[in-house]
Amino acid sequence: MAPIVISVSHLSKRYGRTVAVEDVSLEVREGEIFGLIGPNGAGKTTTMECVQGHRKADSGTISVLGLDPRRDANQLRQRIGVQHQEAHLQKRIKVWEAVDLWSSLYSRVVDTDALLERLGLTAKRNAWFMTLSGGQKQRLFIALALIHEPDVVFLDELTTGLDPQARRTIWDLVTGIRDRGTTVFLTTHLMEEAERLCDRVAIIEHGKIIEMGTPADLVEKHCPERSVVFTSDGDAVADRLRALPSVQSAMSNGSTHTIRGEGDDFVTDVITFIAGSGLRVRGFRTEFPTLEDVFLKLTGHGIRD
Ligand SMILES: Nc1ncnc2c1ncn2[C@@H]1O[C@H](COP(=O)(O)OP(=O)(O)OP(=O)(O)O)[C@@H](O)[C@H]1O
Ligand SMILES: [Mg+2]
Repeated sequence: MAPIVISVSHLSKRYGRTVAVEDVSLEVREGEIFGLIGPNGAGKTTTMECVQGHRKADSGTISVLGLDPRRDANQLRQRIGVQHQEAHLQKRIKVWEAVDLWSSLYSRVVDTDALLERLGLTAKRNAWFMTLSGGQKQRLFIALALIHEPDVVFLDELTTGLDPQARRTIWDLVTGIRDRGTTVFLTTHLMEEAERLCDRVAIIEHGKIIEMGTPADLVEKHCPERSVVFTSDGDAVADRLRALPSVQSAMSNGSTHTIRGEGDDFVTDVITFIAGSGLRVRGFRTEFPTLEDVFLKLTGHGIRD
């Protein structure tokens, strides 16, 4: 197994009477994309800022790349890259000026032309920050976070407010960062984003981690049920399917049949039945639960409620 690069143990943080983070423990391994996911106000940014050393925890211990984020702040700053949720730059700073300014903060920097090229910003080198689109601004913030070739990069709600296409571009970039060996610690309240991007996730609610694992494992553990929906004529289709051992429920609405079941054999069982029954099928799809369903199951409410 890859070595642990971030280790958080019993982290707690309050603001006055508000408990923002309570007894959070987690570990992130080298080369993975780890996502802290949860609704607004769950404590994602607070946790991340404590890990970066930008906020002082009330209690608990944190180690990043073997360093203490508060005590070894200067040393750590050279080795981590940070994109803040509420990041802004001056309206009239140009892309290349921002890159130059950031470069001056570090003892070692990458080839910045190549970096801008990789992030699709070459044509915007001379553009003012205020003239960039939302997706371009986010790509610039990624560039600034990567300028010193950090070992770990922190991305806080990177794609909030972006349209689906810009979001997908950013996902590809983040996967590329991981593929080059950099560890990524991100937060998001978009379950689809977490599912597509993260190797492992921790679900946080009201400051506490309520589940942790790979997206696929969490879905398998909490929402193992699958559905098959198909359209065909034929008599008592649902009744006959209900008799199969892996089928839990079967309903027909006119010629559309919705079959629910669990286990590895379920979909095959339904297909085998259909093939053997001589039914003519006009449409067929399988439906799998998602992380969104896991969240709903664990908390009793949707992530945006
Ligand atoms: N500087 C602050 N002063 C007081 N309370 C704060 C401060 N920052 C955050 N909080 C509170 O702490 C809790 C956790 O906030 P945090 O920003 O960590 O959540 P989050 O999961 O990042 O939310 P979002 O998805 O909206 O970014 C919230 O109740 C919030 O109101
Ligand atoms: Mg936040």
